[in-house]
Amino acid sequence: MRAPEGAKARDYLKRRGLDGQAAKQFRLGYAPASGQALIEFLKGHNVTQDDMLAAGVARSSDGHPLRDFFFNRLMFVITDGRGRAIAFGGRALEDDAKPKYINSGENSLFSKGHHLYNFATARAAAIKAGTVIVAEGYMDVIALVRGGFAHAVAPLGTALTEDQLHLLWRTTPEPVLAFDGDAAGAKAAERAARLALPHLKAGYSLRFVFLPKDEDPDSLIGKSGPGAMTLLLEGALPLSDMLWRTLTEGKDLSTPERRAGLERDLSALAAEITDAKIADYYRRDFDQRVFERFKRRQVVRRPDGGRAEPWRSSRPPFRGKAGQPRPQPGTAEAVSPAVKASLLARAGQAGQEREGALARKEMELGALLLEQPDLAHRHGELLAELAFRDRSLDRLRHELLNLAASGSSLEKAPVLTHLERLGMAELLARLGVRPTPRQPESVPEDETEARFLRAAADFRAMAEWEPERERAFRRFAADGSEESWREASRFLRPSHE
Ligand code: UTP
Ligand code: MN
Repeated sequence: MRAPEGAKARDYLKRRGLDGQAAKQFRLGYAPASGQALIEFLKGHNVTQDDMLAAGVARSSDGHPLRDFFFNRLMFVITDGRGRAIAFGGRALEDDAKPKYINSGENSLFSKGHHLYNFATARAAAIKAGTVIVAEGYMDVIALVRGGFAHAVAPLGTALTEDQLHLLWRTTPEPVLAFDGDAAGAKAAERAARLALPHLKAGYSLRFVFLPKDEDPDSLIGKSGPGAMTLLLEGALPLSDMLWRTLTEGKDLSTPERRAGLERDLSALAAEITDAKIADYYRRDFDQRVFERFKRRQVVRRPDGGRAEPWRSSRPPFRGKAGQPRPQPGTAEAVSPAVKASLLARAGQAGQEREGALARKEMELGALLLEQPDLAHRHGELLAELAFRDRSLDRLRHELLNLAASGSSLEKAPVLTHLERLGMAELLARLGVRPTPRQPESVPEDETEARFLRAAADFRAMAEWEPERERAFRRFAADGSEESWREASRFLRPSHE
């Protein structure tokens, strides 16, 4: 890194906000582009070619001379629990290079599912802080440590394994896993949650944090500072909340069959838990949530605008970073203005994401209506309630309702011709419908109707969400209290759409 040919890597680090001090602290290096640098160096130290190959730092392809395994990459050292180097990760210096990261292959020292990046250093900090943060990447760990979270680790390019979970539990009973705020992050979180279920034991669990969309801990800390991360960590979801949300969020559960389906899925989750006592508590917890959820459903429909299912947190009290006094809940300094601002920005993002999902859902409804315009006849009342956001889509809805009300035929072909005459050809194209249909397609009518009803139910559930969110954030922005933070924080989560 410090040699002349390391200039590229030094520039790269600088662009990512890391200085020489950080490079030293994290033992970052540079693998030169020649592909021979390490081999030459090791030869000078009398290391045999066989050992170079066995350690995974050189590779051979038949007939050709050995080459360095890593070249032209920024290098991260992976150590065992005692801080001894056992493998490397290497990041490409160009953003479009593929693969972005490569890691040492498995060998007698290194098995990627058994180790965690930065574990040797983080362990003591984790024990002291009473918590450990599991991020997704090397750069996240570095940003976290520099932001004051010395207790940060990451898996090594794979999903969390059982062995890693046990390593984490040796430092602290409730590791906090941080995931990207997108659909992939939600999936990864669910996978980690399911992985943990058979291993839960008294006192030991996981908690979950979701980053704002398109952010990881590195970028969040870069833009909003460590305070934003602290705030997210404070809102970390207990495992039971995470599982409940996975199964209920954004879903319409208004029919007895769907409710039964939910209860079946919840009890399947509880059955994954090996510890009988914990399994029993999970069953009770889920039963209670089901009860609360459906009890409250009626409250939602009250004409006086009562709130929908306030989020109840069962999270344990937050244990802050070592040595940092934690503000008392309810006091004015509990939420700093800067953090408040970043939170509100984040809320806007979550809102946009939801809006996108809503827009897709109404397009789906439009397409289904054109597939079978007669739905406007059979489900006129339902359709009358679905106010679409997109102007031309909403106009389509009105036209279909008008046709249904006037008793006109709702055959597909004449309806399409009629809509085209009204100047809606562009919308029809957008919905992927040809104005003059070819042979009628063989989608069974019942199936289209079922899809329509499902989509309509989803649409309504999603549309209810947004005003709730707005209200919670306006309240939080106004008083900044701990209580309204807790209320608002339930809207800071990724959409599962
Ligand atoms: P990400 O793709 O999320 O990258 O990979 P990142 O951590 O944000 O990295 P920067 O900020 O772009 O530099 C997360 C982790 O997944 C593994 C690496 O361990 C990486 O740190 N990974 C990613 C790979 O092993 N191979 C890849 O091609 C990409
Ligand atoms: Mn990143």
